[in-house]
Amino acid sequence: MTRVLFVCLGNICRSPMAEGIFQKLVADRGLQDRFEIDSCGTSGWHAGEPPDPRTLAVLARNGVHLTSRARALVHADRTFDYILALDDGNLRDVQRKLGADAPVFPVLLHVGGGQVPDPYYGGNEGFEAVYAMLVPALEAWLQRMH
Ligand code: 4NP
Repeated sequence: MTRVLFVCLGNICRSPMAEGIFQKLVADRGLQDRFEIDSCGTSGWHAGEPPDPRTLAVLARNGVHLTSRARALVHADRTFDYILALDDGNLRDVQRKLGADAPVFPVLLHVGGGQVPDPYYGGNEGFEAVYAMLVPALEAWLQRMH
C-alpha cells in the first residue's frame, strides 16, 4: 500500500483538486487497491467544509467526482509515504510541523519544479490552470510510485 497525501493551505481548492485527479489516474489503471489517497490543509480554516465549488466544477468537467471534507494537517500524517506540497510555503509549513525528515516533496518536482498558485481569490481560469498543471505532474508521480 502506498499512501499519498496532498497538502495546500485551506484544503478546499488545490489539494482536493490533486486528490481527485490522482484518484482518477489510479482508478483508470486499476490500481485503487494499492493506494491510499488523502488531502489536508496546513490551516484548519475551512475544516469540515466540502471543496470550493470552482474546484468541484473543474473536476466534474473532467469526469472526476470527489467527496471530501477539509481537515488540517496533524502529526500522524508523518506516516504517509509521500506528502506532496502544492507550494513552497505549504512545504515549509509541513516540515515545520512534522519535522525536516518528513517525506515532503513539491508536487511539481518531476515537471520542472515550481509552485501551484493559489487560485482562491481569482476567477475560474485560475482553477483551470491548476488542473492543467496537476495532470502531467501527477501522471509523472504515479509512474514513479508503482
Ligand atoms: P487552497 O486555497 O490552499 O488551495 O485550498 C485557499 C483556500 C482558502 C484560503 C486560502 C487559500 N483562505 O484564505 O481562506
